[in-house]
Amino acid sequence: MAGESREQWNSRTGFIFAAVGSAVGLGNMWRFSYLTAENGGAAFVVLYLLLTLVIGLPVMLAELTVGRGAGKSPIQALAHYGGPRWRGLGAVFVAAGFIILSYYGVIAGWTLRYAGEALVTGFADDPGLHFRNIREGSGAFLFHVFFMGATIGIVAGGVKRGIERVAVIAMPALFFLVCAVALYAATLDGAGAGYRYYLNTDFVNAWSLDVLVDAAGQAFFSLSLGMGAMLTFASYLPRESHLPNESLLIASADFGVAFLAGLMVFPLIFALGLSGDVSESTLGALFVALPKAFAAMGAAGRVVGLLFFIALVVGALTSAISLLEVVVSATIDGLNWSRLQSTLVMGLAITALGAPSAWNIGFLEVMDKVANNLFLLGGGLGLSIFVGWVMKDPTGEVAVGAEGVPWFGLWRGLLRFVVPAFLIVVLWNSVPATLRAVWGLISAS
Ligand code: TRP
Repeated sequence: MAGESREQWNSRTGFIFAAVGSAVGLGNMWRFSYLTAENGGAAFVVLYLLLTLVIGLPVMLAELTVGRGAGKSPIQALAHYGGPRWRGLGAVFVAAGFIILSYYGVIAGWTLRYAGEALVTGFADDPGLHFRNIREGSGAFLFHVFFMGATIGIVAGGVKRGIERVAVIAMPALFFLVCAVALYAATLDGAGAGYRYYLNTDFVNAWSLDVLVDAAGQAFFSLSLGMGAMLTFASYLPRESHLPNESLLIASADFGVAFLAGLMVFPLIFALGLSGDVSESTLGALFVALPKAFAAMGAAGRVVGLLFFIALVVGALTSAISLLEVVVSATIDGLNWSRLQSTLVMGLAITALGAPSAWNIGFLEVMDKVANNLFLLGGGLGLSIFVGWVMKDPTGEVAVGAEGVPWFGLWRGLLRFVVPAFLIVVLWNSVPATLRAVWGLISAS
C-alpha cells in the first residue's frame, strides 16, 4: 500500500497538536528539570535556548522538508531523495525509536503509578524508599505494560482517528495543568528561592564541554529530532503547508512548556527546602523530591501532585505515540503490513524490550545515554549532511507553501556547515563517555 492512499491529517491544528505532543513529554518536565539542576540552573537554560534556535530549528525544518516532500516513512523517504544507500540512516532512525520507547515506557510507567497512587492512597510517607521499591521489578514492568497498551491502542487507530484525535484533547489539557501547577507553586513561601536558583546563575563556572553535550542531547530529545519522528508526522501533511511556521511553532511550544516546567518544579522543591535532593541529581530525583514536597503540603499537595503526574502521563503518552509511529510507519511502508499488524507486532516487541530497563535502573540510564548521545546526535548529523549536501534542491522543496521566506539560504548554510561541525565536536566528546558507560554496564553484569 506504500504511497497509494497515504493517510493525512484532518487539519493543520491536528498536525500541530500531534507534533507538539511528540515534542512535549518527559523530556520537558522530567529531563529538562534534572539537567538544569545538575548543570547549574539558568546558564543551562540559556545555552539550551540558544541550541534550540541554532541547531534544533534547522534540523526540525530539515525533517519536515524531507517528510512532506517524500510523503513516505523515514527509510523510504531517505531513499527517495538520496538513493538506496541512504536506507541505512533510516534504519538507524527506526532502531532509535525502538530503543527510546523501550525505556521511555518504563519511566512513563512510574508516572502512571504515581498518578494512580495520588488518587487512591496519597503520596508515600517516605518517597525515597518508595521510589527505590517501585522503580525496578515486576511492578515497574507492569505499569510499563499498561502504558504501552494505551500507546499501542492509539497508534492502531491511525493518524486521524488515533493520533490526531488524542492530541487535540490531550495537549490543551496538558497546557492547562502545567499552568495551574506553576501558579500554585508561585503562591508558596520560599518560591522565590526556587526562582532565584532557576533564573540566575554564574555563567562562567557553569559552561563546559560536558554541559554543552548535555544541552545538545537534550535539545534533540526534547524536540523529538534525530530519528525521523518529525519526518514521519510531516509525511502526512498536504503539500501547501508552511513548514518554517510549523517548525517555529513547535519549537516555541516545546521550549515554553520546558520553561514552565522549571517554574513548577523549582519553587515546589525550594519551598520545602529539598534542593539537596535535586542537586545530587539522578534521573530519579524528581520522583523523590516532588512527592516529598506534595506529601508535606497535605490535602492541597495531594490534589496538585495528582494534577502534576497526570500532566506527565499525558505528555509521555503523546510522545510515545510518535516514537511508535516511526517504527509502525516503517513496517507499513517497508513490509506492506497492515497498520493493525504493524502496531501490535512492533508495540509488543518494544514492550518486551523494556524488560531490562524495568528490572535495572542502571540499564535504563545507559539506554538513555546511548539513545541521546549516540543515536539522536548521530542521526541529526546524518540528516543535516543529507539535506545540506545530498538532497537536490532542498531550498526549492522547503519553499513550497512558504514562498518569499528570505532565510532559506541561511538555513541550508547552517545544515551544511554549522550543524555538522557542532555535532561532530559534541559527538567527539560524548561517544567515548557513552561507550565507557556501556562497557561499565557489561562488565558489571
Ligand atoms: N520529545 C519527547 C520528550 O521530550 C520524547 C520523544 C518523542 C522523542 N519522540 C521522540 C525523542 C523522537 C527523540 C525522538 O519527552
